[in-house]
Amino acid sequence: MKLPRFKELLEQTEAMTHTPPPGQMVGPTKAAVLKAVDTYKDKLRSMGINLHSNLGSGANGFVYDMSDGKVAKITKDRTEANATYRIKGKRLKNVYEIYEVFELGDLGIFLIIQEKLQPLNPIIEKYWTPAQTALGGFRVNPSEASRTFDKYWIALERHHSFPSMDSTEYLESKRAFLEVGNGLKELQKNEIKWHDWHIGNIMQKSSGAYSIIDLGVSQSPMVSIDKI
Ligand SMILES: Nc1ncnc2c1ncn2[C@@H]1O[C@H](COP(=O)(O)OP(=O)(O)O)[C@@H](O)[C@H]1O
Ligand SMILES: [Mg+2]
Repeated sequence: MKLPRFKELLEQTEAMTHTPPPGQMVGPTKAAVLKAVDTYKDKLRSMGINLHSNLGSGANGFVYDMSDGKVAKITKDRTEANATYRIKGKRLKNVYEIYEVFELGDLGIFLIIQEKLQPLNPIIEKYWTPAQTALGGFRVNPSEASRTFDKYWIALERHHSFPSMDSTEYLESKRAFLEVGNGLKELQKNEIKWHDWHIGNIMQKSSGAYSIIDLGVSQSPMVSIDKI
């Protein structure tokens, strides 16, 4: 079985990434982020932004449900705020939609209002995760992004006997791969070099389309972000 090769995509991916990813994030601590959320709660509420349950938290911030088909991410990652601002209001096929991006005062803490996405189809986790492990992790070293895409398909083929090439498992895995690839392409068109491509940053739109989330750890030309 000849695996698909995404030469055009891979060349662009290669072109996008020569600079090493930003190192450890500096700036406010997570405690400071939480404090800012508390301080700004009323202001946000007056803007119609209600933060409900916490959906997740990582190294740089917190994700809150807004219970109207949106989520709010509060992050201290300026590269994420910058990249998301660049795609604000754009309806990309395979990247989450961004509705608003603000900085909380001058705190270096940002609020990003995003389209709420659905959890990733378990088939994709089942079939992609062992391949990711086989590769020794799936965080793409940007300068090796193209090779990683190729290796990834090879690992998928080696580590799984798909029931058949017309099985749901195979077709869905392939569709997800192609769509995430298209998402990368869409980011490149917006001059975003993204350094955090891994399975934890893929979800699905309500239409079923596979979608990139979390543009943290990225590089893009600087924009000016509104402060509240
Ligand atoms: N747009 C979204 N829709 C639904 N859930 C989301 C969304 N963005 C993030 N989440 C949830 O929050 C978790 C952490 O979000 P993410 O942006 O990846 O933050 P981190 O920078 O901590 O990796 C995700 O794994 C997911 O469960
Ligand atoms: Mg993430």
